[in-house]
Amino acid sequence: MTEPEVSYPLTVLRTAAELRAATQTYRDEGKLIGLVPTMGALHQGHLALVDRAARDCGLVIASLFVNPTQFGEGEDFDAYPRNEADDIAKFDAHGVDFVYAPDAAEIYPAGLATTVTVSGITEGLCGATRPGHFDGVTTVVSRLFEHCAPDVAYFGEKDYQQYKVVQRLVEQLGLDIRVVGITTVRERDGLALSSRNAYLNPGQRRAAPAMYGTMFALAGRLHDGVDIAAQCAWGAQALLDAGFDSVDYFEICDADTLIPATGNAPNLRILAAARLGKTRLIDNMPVDPPD
Ligand code: PAF
Repeated sequence: MTEPEVSYPLTVLRTAAELRAATQTYRDEGKLIGLVPTMGALHQGHLALVDRAARDCGLVIASLFVNPTQFGEGEDFDAYPRNEADDIAKFDAHGVDFVYAPDAAEIYPAGLATTVTVSGITEGLCGATRPGHFDGVTTVVSRLFEHCAPDVAYFGEKDYQQYKVVQRLVEQLGLDIRVVGITTVRERDGLALSSRNAYLNPGQRRAAPAMYGTMFALAGRLHDGVDIAAQCAWGAQALLDAGFDSVDYFEICDADTLIPATGNAPNLRILAAARLGKTRLIDNMPVDPPD
């Protein structure tokens, strides 16, 4: 999939029509088009997606849109960090060709009455504690796919359920888009990079890496005959003991279907969501296959 490196000046576009016109020549030339969807507040985790897209593709589009429909009531839509100029400079430094930064009306024009829902895989984990969240994600991602028409789209594995939901969406709608998941980027102490880490006070920041540490310890405790429910309860309690205020879930699931595991098996993933004050952190980790 590697194409010769060619660099174009970065351009910021606000409408699907402008984006379509601006990218047409590259499509006609047969360039592979990569899309990195983001809500901005960029960190190294996002930039790892961009770097991979720039390596794989002849043209990279990054989208910048804080999507209101994936935030529930009382969530942090208004407070979500926004700094478009900084984000654009980072995209530029990492080889993005076009930034697609639409207004809400471009994505959700008056009268739009279509919501995209993927059922099943969206119902547990984050879907259980954030009702409507994945409908917001799959609807905006469908709009971005329609507007950007990528060949490849890049998603961070930090939001593992989101990545799997988007894969399911693409498979079931028969879209000709390859969905690539990129390994989570972590701080030195194991904390997964997230735009929401900026909300943590110093005490919460010290407690936060316990999520990674607990999942890592639990991965080493899984063996044949292990009581999965007891291990998950142990993991949730370990987070509370480390200073988390509440745990939304601590689960071990099949890594593709996200159905909770009933025993040790190949292809498992540990997934957790817990709160430090008002900040909700999520993380996940693959479990090595049993010997
Ligand atoms: O992961 C995110 O930043 C968002 O959920 C996404 C995929 C850009 C959709 O708004």
